[in-house]
Amino acid sequence: MEFDFTQLPPQDRYRLLTNFVGPRPIALVTTRSEGGHSNAAPMSFFNVFSQDPPIVILGVQTRGDGQEKDTLVNIRRSSQFCVNMVDMELAEAMILCGVNFAPDVDEPAFAGLDTAPCRQIDAHYITRTPCAMECRVERIIDFPSRAIILGEVVEMTVRDDCMDAQGRYVNPDVYQPIARLHADNYIVADRQFELLKPAEAATWEAAQLTPKTAKAR
Ligand SMILES: Cc1cc2nc3c(=O)[nH]c(=O)nc-3n(C[C@H](O)[C@H](O)[C@H](O)COP(=O)(O)O)c2cc1C
Repeated sequence: MEFDFTQLPPQDRYRLLTNFVGPRPIALVTTRSEGGHSNAAPMSFFNVFSQDPPIVILGVQTRGDGQEKDTLVNIRRSSQFCVNMVDMELAEAMILCGVNFAPDVDEPAFAGLDTAPCRQIDAHYITRTPCAMECRVERIIDFPSRAIILGEVVEMTVRDDCMDAQGRYVNPDVYQPIARLHADNYIVADRQFELLKPAEAATWEAAQLTPKTAKAR
């Protein structure tokens, strides 16, 4: 089957892209409303794209009626947001936060999530999240019905049990994020495996470098 994206209506592009580009990690994005309420919304148009600068990206579309979602309104005003990673413990609460509540509803509280103030930005993070990333807006790219937000991570808070004893690497027995597949289907990272380069890789890579070095001389 072939699909010409230049001819497809947006909802069909959405279906195909989200059905096949997955699993997509879920950012439970917390922001502060103008009235001081804590807002939380799941976003699966999300990933990390760079460590220098440390950039994460969100894609936030407008609602069916063309209105901007509370998350985007809050981010435009404050230029700050926090990404809370989601595991099975937070899954049910995450879905509740995806309901379209009025801007004055404290969504984490409604979903039964405890929060604490972020360290470097004016928002709250979810205390049971395995990992919270405090972000400042680097830039917002506007399209007619969505905004793509680049956020620079300024602080990361990792739940102690999600780290190894040295505090360097993730503990994969504890940190098992969930991610979105197609429609309402999700997957949990509880079947991880190691994949190593073949032993000969170092030799092959060295061989690639040798001719270039020779030319440079
Ligand atoms: C798992 C999941 C992923 C979602 N991903 C996105 C997304 O990437 N972008 C988006 O605009 N909405 C996404 N949504 C929908 C929003 O979470 C939903 O519209 C929410 O009500 C927005 O809340 P807000 O008005 O408080 O910002 C997602 C919902 C779920 C359940």
